[in-house]
Amino acid sequence: MLRRLHKDQPDHFAFADANLAWAEAQIKKYPEGRQASAIIPLLWRAQEQEGWLTRPAMEAVAAMLDMAYIRVLEVATFYFMFQLQPVGSVAHIQVCGTTSCMICGAEDLIGVCKEKIAKHAHDLSADGKFSWEEVECLGACANAPMAQIGKDYYEDLTAERLGEIIDEMAAGKVPVPGPQNRRYAAEPSGGLTSLKEHESGRAKYNASAQAAVDIGDTIKRIDGTEVALLTPWIHDGEVATKPRPAEVTPIAPTEPAPVAEPEPVAVAAEGTKPEGLSEARDGNADDLKRIKGVGPKLEKLLNSLGFFHFDQVANWSAEEIAWVDDNLEGFKGRVTRDEWVAQAKVLTNEADT
Ligand code: FES
Repeated sequence: MLRRLHKDQPDHFAFADANLAWAEAQIKKYPEGRQASAIIPLLWRAQEQEGWLTRPAMEAVAAMLDMAYIRVLEVATFYFMFQLQPVGSVAHIQVCGTTSCMICGAEDLIGVCKEKIAKHAHDLSADGKFSWEEVECLGACANAPMAQIGKDYYEDLTAERLGEIIDEMAAGKVPVPGPQNRRYAAEPSGGLTSLKEHESGRAKYNASAQAAVDIGDTIKRIDGTEVALLTPWIHDGEVATKPRPAEVTPIAPTEPAPVAEPEPVAVAAEGTKPEGLSEARDGNADDLKRIKGVGPKLEKLLNSLGFFHFDQVANWSAEEIAWVDDNLEGFKGRVTRDEWVAQAKVLTNEADT
C-alpha cells in the first residue's frame, strides 16, 4: 500500500498542555544526544490527540527532537500503526483479516464496515464518525474474529454484533470490550476444563476489559488526564525519583464515556429471598459447579444459603434472581451474567431423563 500524506492538512499542530508535559517526560528518559529515540511515543501521542498523524504534527515532533523532518516522515510512513489520513471522529475500526480471523468470519465483519461505514477502507462514513481498515494479525487469534477499536479489542465477533457495536458507539455509548460471546477470556467456548478453582474469585470481566469499564475509556481521545499515571517519575516538571504507587495521584478522566452494560435485566431492585433447604434432599446435593460460572467457593456459598439442587435454581423468579445476585458476597450479578437459571433448567432436565 502506498503511504502518502493526506492532501488536506491542517495549518497547525500543538500538543495539549498535559500531552506536552507527557512528551517532555518521555524525552527525558533518554541520554543527551539520543532524544530521537522518543520519536515513536511522541508521534503516537500526537496521533492519539488528533486521531491521525498530520504533517504539522510530524514537523512539531521533528522540532522537539531536533531531527530532520525527513527522518520523522520516514518513520511515520513506514509503520502502518500511524494513520496518515483523517479517521472517524468517534472510532476507527481495525478488522483483523489474517488467517484465524479470516476463517472465522473476518470477511463478514468487513462486509459490515463496507455497508455501515464506507465502501473503501480509510474513507470516512457519511457523517464523519467512523472509518475502517483491514489489518494483519493483532495477536488475539484464539478469540477470532476480532477488531481493534480505539484502545481495545472486541473479540469473538459476529457480523451482527459488530453492527450493534458501531450503532452503540454512534449513540455515544462504549460497549464493553473483550469477548462478545460471553467468554471471559480465551478459555474453551464450552467453559473451563481446568484451573476451575480460579474461576469463582475473578472480577466481572477480564483485566483489560475491566480496566476499560472502570475508566470508561476505549475510544476516548488521549487528553493528558492520565499523565500522572504514565509519567510517575516526573514531579513539578522535573525528573524525580520514581515514587511508590501510593504517592502517585491518579487523575480522573474529564468526561468518562458511558459504558454499556451487557444486558439490562428487568428485575426488582431488592428482590425476594428464594426458599432454601436446611440440607440437601436425601443428603445428595447436585454438583452446582456444573453451572458455568459456579466454582467451589460459589457452590459453598449457595449451599450456605440453602441451595443444593439444580431444580431450586431453575425455579428462581426474577425477584428471587435479584435477591441472590445481590447476596452473593464478592460475586454479585453472577446469576444474571452467566444465566444460571437457563443453565439449571437444562441440567434439571438432564437429571430427570
Ligand atoms: S488472525 Fe486475527 S488476531 Fe490473529
